[in-house]
Amino acid sequence: MSQSITDQPLQFAYWVPNVSGGLVISNIEQRTQWDFDYNRKLAQIAERAGFDYALTQIRFTAGYGADNQHESVSFSHGLLAATDRLKVIAALLPGPWNPTLAAKQIATISHLTQARIAVNIVSGWFRGEFKAIGEPWLDHEERYLRSEEFIRCLRGIWQEETFNFAGDFYRYRDYVMKPKPLDPLPEIFQGGSSRAARDMAARVSDWYFTNGNTVEGIRQQVDDVQQKAAANQHQVKIGVNGFVIARETEQEAQQVLHQIIAQANPDAVKGFAHEAKNAGNASPEGEGNWAKSSLEDLVQYNDGFKTNLIGTPQQIAERIIALKNAGVSLMLLGFLHFQEEVEYFGREVIPLVRELERQQQRELAHG
Ligand SMILES: Cc1cc2nc3c(=O)[nH]c(=O)nc-3n(C[C@H](O)[C@H](O)[C@H](O)COP(=O)(O)O)c2cc1C
Repeated sequence: MSQSITDQPLQFAYWVPNVSGGLVISNIEQRTQWDFDYNRKLAQIAERAGFDYALTQIRFTAGYGADNQHESVSFSHGLLAATDRLKVIAALLPGPWNPTLAAKQIATISHLTQARIAVNIVSGWFRGEFKAIGEPWLDHEERYLRSEEFIRCLRGIWQEETFNFAGDFYRYRDYVMKPKPLDPLPEIFQGGSSRAARDMAARVSDWYFTNGNTVEGIRQQVDDVQQKAAANQHQVKIGVNGFVIARETEQEAQQVLHQIIAQANPDAVKGFAHEAKNAGNASPEGEGNWAKSSLEDLVQYNDGFKTNLIGTPQQIAERIIALKNAGVSLMLLGFLHFQEEVEYFGREVIPLVRELERQQQRELAHG
């Protein structure tokens, strides 16, 4: 357990429901909405509840329930304009985006929002989507090679007065982009868990964002990423997805989980499983996201049940601290009824996490 991680308060992010259907592929009633009015209010609730970040999703076409999808960068800007402190992470998919457009858009949003914009570079999992929009579907390793070049170009354009780059995917010759983003530069997150994802994070990303998993599963990834990052003299932090079902009793929370799974939409889950496993297995070592997920796990798009944030506020706070002790700096959270449950999480769970953090600090101070 590194001293620097335990010193810092754990940070919280929530998934922005800018895609319809919520975060579970289930016919259970979800009061979550995907429109902007709902999301503006949610961002304001989250900011008051103690959340640090909101993460938007990018999807160009429907599939497995997500019939409507708002675009990530413009939606992020809308949420930033409606809040004061919240940072919003905009998903960017290399292919549809190139680094020139992304660097320019994000620099401008940085100026419009006092540097509260960040980005999440995603490498693509949905082959049908690429086909639908006429984008070539690269193989897994190549998708990551492109993402890494994309990140190097973003940083270079933002940081260097005159940027030059000769890569396999992108080329720049004496490119001067002004204005630069405000300080601090937008943080660069990345989503994905395969070996290629971990290697890329250890070289170029500020944050490694991974799917839900057990504490042990997360610890292995953290150790791998951090060892490689140390060898590269690169600093990277870790964020983990979890689906929260916080209720007054454990039994109530488990019942909700049971209902979500019992009312899962089997065809949509199977379709998603087929597509996602294709993406996960496509990584040569077979450790990508979803490579080992059961059908029940896949009812939550990013394996969020595996993190087991399902129970009473006290149980959830203790599990979050266990993840922190495994090297996690940020919890990325999904909920069934976002507005109500983000508010409840801020009121009931975050204060317990803070109390446990203070307790650990006292124990460390007393040797
Ligand atoms: C936290 C997180 C957020 C993601 N957001 C998106 C997204 O908005 N759009 C998208 O197409 N893929 C998204 N992905 C999928 C990744 O880009 C990637 O394709 C997937 O995780 C498989 O990568 P892997 O084989 O390296 O594990 C996300 C993944 C994670 C972990």
